[in-house]
Amino acid sequence: MAKTYDIVIDGKTCMAEHGEYLWDVAKRNGIEIPALCRSEAFPEHHASCRVCIAEVVARGRSKVVTSCVYPIEGECEVHTNSPKIVQDRKVLMALLAARAPESDLMAAMASHMGAGEGYERLKPLDAGKCILCGLCVQACESMGAGAISTVNRGVDKEINTPYGAASDDCIGCLSCANVRPTDSIPFKEDSETRTIWNRTFELSRCKECGRVLGTQQMSDVELCDACRRKAIANELAETYRFVQNSSREFGRPHIQMAAKPDGRAFARIRERHGRTDDGPDRRKGAPWHSSTAMIATSGHCLIGNAGRS
Ligand code: SF4
Ligand code: FES
Repeated sequence: MAKTYDIVIDGKTCMAEHGEYLWDVAKRNGIEIPALCRSEAFPEHHASCRVCIAEVVARGRSKVVTSCVYPIEGECEVHTNSPKIVQDRKVLMALLAARAPESDLMAAMASHMGAGEGYERLKPLDAGKCILCGLCVQACESMGAGAISTVNRGVDKEINTPYGAASDDCIGCLSCANVRPTDSIPFKEDSETRTIWNRTFELSRCKECGRVLGTQQMSDVELCDACRRKAIANELAETYRFVQNSSREFGRPHIQMAAKPDGRAFARIRERHGRTDDGPDRRKGAPWHSSTAMIATSGHCLIGNAGRS
């Protein structure tokens, strides 16, 4: 059984298991700590909004922690609304509200925490509603799609599909739109279609009652993102092994025999290295066996990038 501690949160003694997050202990004991980027739907929390800060006093020292990812490892005293926390949270809310000036939730929270006045100098960056909590990206990855991610840096950072184009990986499941706390992902739906991230999907319906089941693409997903990438990498590694064996058996002039199992992969070899039917064109690039190494290496990269689009 896990070790337990008695911790005091806002004057109330609460029992916490070793390693349990402070935010969870508080919630279980009826103490609400504001949170924006924390969702019960995911086991991992990215702790990007910092609204859930609290002050922890242990062994005579006080520190400000992010309660949704702060594991309890001993007895301590916690203040969720000390003057320092109230002031810090006010600044955080003012910054988040400036980041998402069109969000009603952010405006309401900012005004509730007294962050409406005195922070006028924080000019809104754009007209959006996104606070970059990252929940939509997490939701998309857990659906096995990996269609959206964080793009750009600094003040230009945003969530989008690659190059902002309609993504082939998106299945139109709406998980991203449903999980975001600030209504920041727009979508449209009528009786026949659903449009999200610049892509329009046909809706499929129950054959019996006609209820909307989702998009056609939603029923096509069989593998999660990581397994899909592994499957591609395995396929490429298999091709590489086949080519190696064929070359040992027949020698280089018979490389066209090795091209049979995967036409696409070898079309890439020809395209990149200018291989002719008589053998590799040495003026243009590497011999064919380094081309196959290139394919295998690209398979390796796919594994390394699992989880990213
Ligand atoms: S709608 Fe598209 S982008 Fe959003 S979670 Fe589903 S697959 Fe990902
Ligand atoms: S809820 Fe803890 S950092 Fe966002």
